[in-house]
Amino acid sequence: MKFFVDTADIAEIRDLSASGIVDGVTTNPSLIAKTGRPIREVIKEICQTIEGPVSAEVTATHFDGMIAEGESFAQIAANVAVKVPSTWDGFRACRALGRLGHKVNVTLCFSANQALLAAKAGATFISPFVGRLDDLGLDGMEVIREIRAIYDNDKSLRTEILASSIRTPLHVKQAAIAGADIATVPPAVLRNLAKHPLTDKGLESFLADWGKTGQTIL
Ligand code: E4P
Repeated sequence: MKFFVDTADIAEIRDLSASGIVDGVTTNPSLIAKTGRPIREVIKEICQTIEGPVSAEVTATHFDGMIAEGESFAQIAANVAVKVPSTWDGFRACRALGRLGHKVNVTLCFSANQALLAAKAGATFISPFVGRLDDLGLDGMEVIREIRAIYDNDKSLRTEILASSIRTPLHVKQAAIAGADIATVPPAVLRNLAKHPLTDKGLESFLADWGKTGQTIL
């Protein structure tokens, strides 16, 4: 499973990308708003930092506006993926932007049927929102499992499942087990994946014992 970072914070992206595990970035209007900076400037900077796909979300809600905004984003850099919502206009725009040669991430997906429509529309990525479904007392991960089964049943569907609205390390593990192709993970959750109290405890005792030997390795 690939990792995307779910943030528009350039310092976080630079820091995490140094680990070599970042395969792409996703942003949304709320994440861009948090930066307080112009969207085109932020997307351009992220695209210069990360080789993989960088999602930039349209805010138009009708087809023509989505195409205009999508084309404008796509001009920023070759690795831009235009994000459109899981609406009828969004699916139409997905098909049209794909035909123009652009990568498209269909976002705000909350059902397997929306994911099926996105794949039929030629989406590069489908973004099912796990955490927001869990917030309602539903099982977000079940939607990932359903989409995996549907896409596996029809090999002509090439869309990658991008598990989104990931809130915990458990979500990351479950998405990988469920067969998501990618998880987009907030920086804090990504860092938490490395943590285990037994690792810290073990390291502490190894170093204490090592200190008693008086040796150095170099
Ligand atoms: C990803 O593309 C989404 O923008 C993001 O994962 C949404 O996460 P949230 O539900 O935590 O806002």
